[in-house]
Amino acid sequence: MDANTQGARQADEIRILGICGSLRRRSYNRMALLAARELMPAGMSMELADLDAIPMYSGDLEAEGFPEPVRQLAARIRDADGLLIASPEYNFSVSGVLKNGIDWLSRLDPQPFRHKPAALLSATQGPVGGARNQYDLRKILGCLEAQVLLRPEVFIGLCHTKFDAGGRLADAPTRKVLGDQMTAFAAWTRCLRGLARP
Ligand SMILES: Cc1cc2nc3c(=O)[nH]c(=O)nc-3n(C[C@H](O)[C@H](O)[C@H](O)COP(=O)(O)O)c2cc1C
Repeated sequence: MDANTQGARQADEIRILGICGSLRRRSYNRMALLAARELMPAGMSMELADLDAIPMYSGDLEAEGFPEPVRQLAARIRDADGLLIASPEYNFSVSGVLKNGIDWLSRLDPQPFRHKPAALLSATQGPVGGARNQYDLRKILGCLEAQVLLRPEVFIGLCHTKFDAGGRLADAPTRKVLGDQMTAFAAWTRCLRGLARP
C-alpha cells in the first residue's frame, strides 16, 4: 500500500464516542455499547466516555466556571466523528444522569452536539426496550441540532435474558439488528462528515 492509499484509508476511519446513561457497574446499556463495538464494520472504532464525574447542573456552579469533567467530555464529543448513546429508560423517559450530562454540555459554546452524527440504542429489563426514552432523547437531541440516525432502531427489551453471565450479547436477532445499525451509522457518519467541524 503506498502512502497516499494509506492516508486515504485513515481519512476514511470513523471514530465514535460511546456514552452510557447508566452509572451501574453491571449496566446492560454499557454491555450493549460493548456489543455494538464488537459488531462495528471495518474502519469504525469506539471509545467509551463516563458520566460519573459530571456534577448536578446548577447555574451557580456554571457561573463559577464549567467543571473540568464537562469540558473534557465536550472536547471528546467535538473530536469524535459521531456519538453512540445507550440510554436506560427510567419512568418512561431518559435517565436523570444522561439528561444532566446533556444539560451541562448544551451550555457550552460551541455547543458540542451541533450537527454531530448520532445513533441511539437502549436496553431495559421491561419488554418495550426503552422506546419511550429514545423518543424523548430524539426530541432533546433535536433541540441541540444533533443529526440522529433514523433506522434501524435498536430497542433491547427483556435485556436480562439476552446477555450471558459474562456480559456478552448472546441473542442472535439482537446482534443482527445491532450490527445492521452500526453499518448504517458508519454510512450516516461518513455522509455527514465535516458538518460538525468548525
Ligand atoms: C428509577 C428507575 C426507573 C425505571 N423505569 C423503567 C421504565 O420506565 N421502563 C423500563 O423498561 N425499565 C425501567 N426500569 C428498569 C431498567 O430497565 C433496568 O433497571 C435496566 O437494567 C437499567 O439499565 P442498566 O442495566 O443499563 O443500568 C427502571 C429502573 C429504575 C432504577
